Amino acid sequence: MFNSIRKEFPIISSSSFRKGIVYLDSSATTQKPQVVIDRIKQYYEKENANIHRGPYDLSLQATQYWLQAHESVAKFLNADSYEEIIFTRNSTEGLNFLANTIGKDLLKDGDIVVVSEMEHHSNIVSWMLLQKSIKFRIEYIPVKDNYTLDTDWFTALVKKYGKKIKIVSLVHISNVLGVKNNVEEIFKIAQSVNTFTVLDAAQSVARIRVDVKEINCDALVFSGHKVYGPTGSGVLYCKRKYLDKLIPWMGGGEMVSLVSKNGFEYNELPWKFEAGTPNIAGGIALGVAVDWLSKRVESVGGWESIVEHEQELIDFFLKQFDSIDWFKHFGPNNSKAKYGAIAFNIKGFTFRGCKDVTKVENDKRGESISEFLNKKRIAFREGYHCAEPLHDRFGVGPTVRFSLGIYNNREDVIYAANSLKEAVLSGLS
Ligand code: ALA
Repeated sequence: MFNSIRKEFPIISSSSFRKGIVYLDSSATTQKPQVVIDRIKQYYEKENANIHRGPYDLSLQATQYWLQAHESVAKFLNADSYEEIIFTRNSTEGLNFLANTIGKDLLKDGDIVVVSEMEHHSNIVSWMLLQKSIKFRIEYIPVKDNYTLDTDWFTALVKKYGKKIKIVSLVHISNVLGVKNNVEEIFKIAQSVNTFTVLDAAQSVARIRVDVKEINCDALVFSGHKVYGPTGSGVLYCKRKYLDKLIPWMGGGEMVSLVSKNGFEYNELPWKFEAGTPNIAGGIALGVAVDWLSKRVESVGGWESIVEHEQELIDFFLKQFDSIDWFKHFGPNNSKAKYGAIAFNIKGFTFRGCKDVTKVENDKRGESISEFLNKKRIAFREGYHCAEPLHDRFGVGPTVRFSLGIYNNREDVIYAANSLKEAVLSGLS
């Protein structure tokens, strides 16, 4: 079944194995199935018109498709209605949106926003920017040595500061460690003091079932391009009771129903938050992507099978390095605790961007490994993966990261493991 899904991705299936790309960078962006590519092409070839505006068929039809895409995403996340789904450009925009709306609304000097030490920079810097106008504190839930979040630390913080903790914003699956956080438990503790809860689901929506009702988060963000959809498409989910009251952070066309010199009236949800002409083709194709993914998940036997498939590949890859001391995995070695990403260091090599504390004298250039893997047509990422505080926490320098998608198979991971061994053992400098 997974083999036939792989064939739906032209960039992967059109090139014969070893001559084509071995794509292990899905945490950065996923490849696109033909159906998504076709949908974008169809829109520009046959359907292009602005939405919400024209009284003519093409525009009315585009508006209808735009609405349907919101409905598809609502169903995908098990939201109550499309009215709770706002289309953005990506997760980063969703988090900045929240900082600039709910953040401005809830936070006063002396309040607290809680994130964790394993956040992506977008869930740190967006709050730091807001600190320039409001003097609140950012607290970081520590990551324990076993790579789980310290829930006891958070419980103690809640006990100490109670309702001063206004927002808790957490990553669901780490883009580096590949771990899935127990956000349900942390959000429950947070909600005992009425804290607004945000989930960064960028790395989880394509890997596990994400149900906003089960998780019970107040808001959630993800990027379309990480769920087999187009770049420049993204989603912010937020409970309606907040959206009804929130003041948009962007004003312009289509977010209003009436404007005069004396003021304006808001459009209905969710359009109130979608000012200006959006990425129409991207949004429509995102709806197609999540519908497509839901069908494929069903065809392989449910989300459990997707998780099993990825974890088997991770397990298989890690086993190739079982007794190899130069391979330093960053994350739990138990593949059952891992989702998608395998980051690691290589003893004897230092990668670009290394800080003094993690520099080792006489280390060889990590770039030579990267160049070697690139020549082998392996797609991967190196560096801090926009999660520098996490690397600092463990005193780990920049890492190499292989990450998986629905199309990867055993041949990919064997090839990557063998190529890595070849690179290191050939004594590159
Ligand atoms: N956040 C993306 C990654 O982990 C871009 O690579």
